Amino acid sequence: MQFGIKEIVEGTPFVRTRRTRMTEGLRSMVRETALTVNDFIYPLFVMPGSNVRNEIRSMPGVFQLSVDTLVEECREVRDLGIPAVILFGIPEHKDETGSSAWDENGIIQQAVRALKKNVPGLVVITDVCMCEYTSHGHCGIVDGEEIVNDATLELLAREALSHAQAGADMVAPSDMMDGRVAVIRETLDAAGYTTLPIMSYAAKYSSGFYGPFRDAAESAPAFGDRRSHQMDPANSNEAVREVAIDIEEGADIVMVKPALPYLDIIRRVKDEFGMPTAAYQVSGEYAMIKAAAANGWLDGDRVMMESLLSIKRAGADMILTYFAKDAARAL
Ligand code: PBG
Repeated sequence: MQFGIKEIVEGTPFVRTRRTRMTEGLRSMVRETALTVNDFIYPLFVMPGSNVRNEIRSMPGVFQLSVDTLVEECREVRDLGIPAVILFGIPEHKDETGSSAWDENGIIQQAVRALKKNVPGLVVITDVCMCEYTSHGHCGIVDGEEIVNDATLELLAREALSHAQAGADMVAPSDMMDGRVAVIRETLDAAGYTTLPIMSYAAKYSSGFYGPFRDAAESAPAFGDRRSHQMDPANSNEAVREVAIDIEEGADIVMVKPALPYLDIIRRVKDEFGMPTAAYQVSGEYAMIKAAAANGWLDGDRVMMESLLSIKRAGADMILTYFAKDAARAL
C-alpha cells in the first residue's frame, strides 16, 4: 500500500525536527554546545637562541620558538583572548637523567620567567616529563630496556618544583609514571606552593597520533616505545581507574589524550567524576586536518571547528589544541 503523509499525520501531530533547523536564528536557539575562546589552551615549543621561528614540517603553522619570539607569540595569544598556554622545552643539552629539566636556567624556566614578566594575565602551564630532556628520549630513568618508575618520581618532582619556582601557574605531568601526582603534590606543598594546581595527563594513551609532536619536541625514543607506561588504546575501564587514582593523589584537572579517537573516554571521565576535564587534541589530529585541507580534500576551517565542538560536546571543559589561534579568530 502507498504510505502517504495522511497516514502519518492521522490522529497525532506530525513531528518535524526540521522546524527548528530552518534558519540560523532558530538553529542558534536550540544549539546545545558552544565553543568559546576560554576553552582553549595553546601548546608551544621553546628552544634556546634568539629570533628563532622554525616551522615544524609535519605541523604547518606551528613553530619552535626562542624565548623572545615566544613572548611575541604569547602577546598575540593573550590578545586573541586565549587564557592559557602550555610549554614544551627543547633543551640545549640532553643527558641520561634529563638533568636540564630542573635547571633553574633551563629553557622552560627562562621562558616562564619571561612570560610572567612580559605577558601578565596569561596562564602559563608547563608540561612535566623527562622525554624532551633525556638523551634516550624516554620519559624517565632507564635501566637496560626498562623505564624505572620509582627512581623517576624524584626527578619529576624536582622538575615540577623548578617550574613552580620560575613562576609557572600550573604544572602538567605527562609521563604516566605511577604515583607521580602524589609525589609532585607533596613536593610542591612542602615548598609552600600549596595553591599551585596540577593538571594531570591522567588517561594518556600510547598513540600513533603523537608522531608530529616528536618532531616538534625532538623527543622520539631512541629505542623501544612508551607502551610500558602509556595506556593501551583498547582499554576504557582502565582509564576510569587511572583518573580515579590521579584525583585521589591530588590532581585538580584531569586530562584525556588524544581527543578525537577517545571521545568515549572523555564522556566517561566527565560523567564519572564531574571534575574539570581537559582533552588534548594532539599533533597527529592537527596534522591530519592540515594535510587534508592542504590537498583540498576537506574544508580545513569547517573540520577544525567541528572536531573542537565534538570534543567539547563529549564533555571536555578545556581543549589543548594547536588550532587555538585559528579557532579563536574564527569565533
Ligand atoms: C610527553 C608528551 C607528549 C605529548 C605531550 N606530552 C609526547 C609523547 O608522549 O610521546 C604529545 C602531544 C602531541 O602529540 O601533540 N612530554
